[in-house]
Amino acid sequence: MEEIKGREPYSDHPLWYDVRGLMILRSSYRDNVFRQAYFFVPHMGARHLEIAIGSGSLFYFFMLLRRALRLEEVEILGVDNSSEMIGSARKKLSGFANVSLEIMDATQLDLDAKSFDTVHIVNSIHSIPHPELCLKEAFRVLKPGGRLAVNALLFPQGNFLQRAVAERVNRFGQKKGILRNPFMRHQFIDLCECAGFELEMAEERGNSLYVRGRRPK
Ligand SMILES: C[S@@+](CC[C@H](N)C(=O)[O-])C[C@H]1O[C@@H](n2cnc3c(N)ncnc32)[C@H](O)[C@@H]1O
Repeated sequence: MEEIKGREPYSDHPLWYDVRGLMILRSSYRDNVFRQAYFFVPHMGARHLEIAIGSGSLFYFFMLLRRALRLEEVEILGVDNSSEMIGSARKKLSGFANVSLEIMDATQLDLDAKSFDTVHIVNSIHSIPHPELCLKEAFRVLKPGGRLAVNALLFPQGNFLQRAVAERVNRFGQKKGILRNPFMRHQFIDLCECAGFELEMAEERGNSLYVRGRRPK
């Protein structure tokens, strides 16, 4: 597939991207990778799509956990519209024969309808222009009964200091182009429902909203 041009915000060196990502996770999301793993790792169906996989570092950690927990090996496709991110993910995940990676726009997936059992969108829906199109695409490619798991960044909550730090970090992200907009809880839930999902859970942790939804049968 052709490289998609114009991805300046994510063209940084993948190592800096990872370090920056961990700092943002702590200060803006008020979350951590272990909580994320607990939510995402066990929920991968026989054919899984990882939308906006990024540099592959977090996903590599998820895959190691799946191995350690002896979870079944599933067929995985990871997509991202940044060639730098997919290049880095290819290197990191080369030891996993069940993972393939492609450059693809999350709002226009070049994939068949009803072809995946599960879809994840991790730390990304608030970075993708037109998140509503991305959710519609996730719905389209899921089989009836298939499940979506996604976490969305919410507007800063918590005490004065926590809000001040998160607001500052979010402003940096917006200036840099790696954050479009945080969501309000109800706004994100509406987006998921408008895309067609039946919501099974919506839980806040720090400034993150974790949502699991199902494409009705
Ligand atoms: C904050 S990173 C998260 C990456 C990874 N899921 C993680 O948690 O480490 C957001 C990712 O979304 C990707 N992205 C942004 N817009 C996109 C689009 N329209 N289609 C596909 N990927 C996109 C970026 O290239 C970047 O890799």
